[in-house]
Amino acid sequence: MIDFHSHILPKIDDGSASTNESLELLTLSKQQGVDCMVATPHFYASDTNPERFLEARLHSFRRLSDAAANRALPGIIPGAEVSYFEGMSDCPELSELKIEGTSLVMVEMPMCRWSGRMLSELSAIHEKTGLIPLIAHVDRYIKLLHDKKIIDKLSGLPVLIQANASFFTDKRTSRLALSLMSKNKIHLLGSDCHNVVTRRPNLGEAYKVIEVKLGNDALKRISENETIVFADNSSVAEALFI
Ligand SMILES: [Fe+2]
Repeated sequence: MIDFHSHILPKIDDGSASTNESLELLTLSKQQGVDCMVATPHFYASDTNPERFLEARLHSFRRLSDAAANRALPGIIPGAEVSYFEGMSDCPELSELKIEGTSLVMVEMPMCRWSGRMLSELSAIHEKTGLIPLIAHVDRYIKLLHDKKIIDKLSGLPVLIQANASFFTDKRTSRLALSLMSKNKIHLLGSDCHNVVTRRPNLGEAYKVIEVKLGNDALKRISENETIVFADNSSVAEALFI
């Protein structure tokens, strides 16, 4: 079980506030059945640049890796949650912000109506760089933009889609989440955990809901998607586009 979205690296964004809290987040994730966590600290092009961000991420990553060494905790894979910015397809360092070992770059879309220009930019990322945008927490746009059909806007685009565990565990949204999952419109899951109090690791709970409601085949599909993206086989990943 891979958690594709987490803010477990200490003191780098609004996620974990200390190395100890990060260790707690890793422990809680392990208890949820997570084998591996993709660390996706926020990247805002307006606040920093890739070079500074990568240096800060490396520092934080090393700190946590050293503290976690010799403990039976989930592995950590460096990534980033890149806030959408105009011209990102032309950013020469974009590939350095990808999820290590994959061709995926996680993109957090703006919380406003998505323009045609924004959607073209997503296509341009794939065309110009070969990277595949992984749309972060698709459920948040559905909720905050009050648009259940927003996922249809991504249809035909070269993107993969990540949803948060809470989409499945929240009784108000679970039905929609399961329906999208059964139509293969959600590819990868994440907890988007930030801390041990209000935004805790909860991926295992979502897996349970999926197993009960959709059966083992759905879990198998998630696992196959994980294998595909880490095999870094773009042509197979392209077959997953909605
Ligand atoms: Fe996030």
